[in-house]
Amino acid sequence: MSSFLTHLKIIRPDDWHLHLRDGEQLKDVLLYTARQFARAVIMPNLRVPVVTTEMAQAYYTRIISALPEVLQSQFQPLMTLYLTDNTQPSEIVRAKNSGIVQAVKLYPAGATTHSDAGVTNISKCFKTLAEMEKQDIPLLVHGEVTDPNIDVFDREKMFIERTLCMLTQHFPQLRIVFEHITTRDAVEFVKQSSEKIAATITAHHLLLNRNALFQGGIRPHHYCLPILKRETHRRALLQAAVSGNAKFFLGTDSAPHALVNKEQSCGCAGIFTAHAAMELYATAFEQVDALDKLEGFASFFGADFYELPRNTDTITLRRKNWMVPERYDFAGEALIPLYADAELSWKVE
Ligand code: NCD
Ligand code: ZN
Repeated sequence: MSSFLTHLKIIRPDDWHLHLRDGEQLKDVLLYTARQFARAVIMPNLRVPVVTTEMAQAYYTRIISALPEVLQSQFQPLMTLYLTDNTQPSEIVRAKNSGIVQAVKLYPAGATTHSDAGVTNISKCFKTLAEMEKQDIPLLVHGEVTDPNIDVFDREKMFIERTLCMLTQHFPQLRIVFEHITTRDAVEFVKQSSEKIAATITAHHLLLNRNALFQGGIRPHHYCLPILKRETHRRALLQAAVSGNAKFFLGTDSAPHALVNKEQSCGCAGIFTAHAAMELYATAFEQVDALDKLEGFASFFGADFYELPRNTDTITLRRKNWMVPERYDFAGEALIPLYADAELSWKVE
């Protein structure tokens, strides 16, 4: 079917997991997202993490001010709080009443970029999680154990066993988004859980397997967390994304880092995909002839899970070959996008 499609018109999508950074970096990456998506869930892992509603409000204002005037009323950042051992239940009430904070993010301490302030032991957060359950604020989880004795490719599976199962039992009414899932184990877990549990899937985990990390040499721009997995897992993710199951929806996890911080003896985790987010998802969906499933995944299921209205305007993806630039500007540094200097065959108008 899709080989005959010259264009695809869908309701405007939302990005349910995005890193925008701050300051000049924010200004340089924000437009890529704002011109495709109506809304995005903004991750709170800034250098100084966004731990209070007040900080989320200030960050929200900085994001809106970084937009050109025409887009200020059109793009909506959905803010999150960074959960720490010390987040109080009263902060959850403030977040709920703010009207701009949509969710709270759990980073196990040390799991990824800027996660040092993360949770050291989830049992320290039980009162706060109980308040989230009561206020019906979703918990977004970076689902990897940080135990250095666990193989890096097994950390997601182990997180399900050690933490996620327990959380869903303790807090059966808490809505949880298992973020950027990377394994068949995560797909199965989400499928068999209650309707309170959903998952986001990135474009890069749909398009690449772990071989991409070592294509003719080590590839720092394919390094992200959770790390790319085996082909069997990529296929399971793609099947879940195109299945029409509303528990799986779009979250790019676009995570820009300057080239100088990626090409290092110890380089940062994170892949920048916002420059071509919908084009990359369309490429992945087309591989399994499922472009007709893109709209639900990108534009409906996330809004439904977050209990927000679906968007009403549309975007059009057109079949058109174009070259991804080899780099973008990032506060005076270079930013290497996914598929830099390679050709894509879809373009958002
Ligand atoms: C993210 C970042 O750079 O902020 N990196 C990544 O590899 N995904 C953090 C995160 O979401 O884990
Ligand atoms: Zn992320």
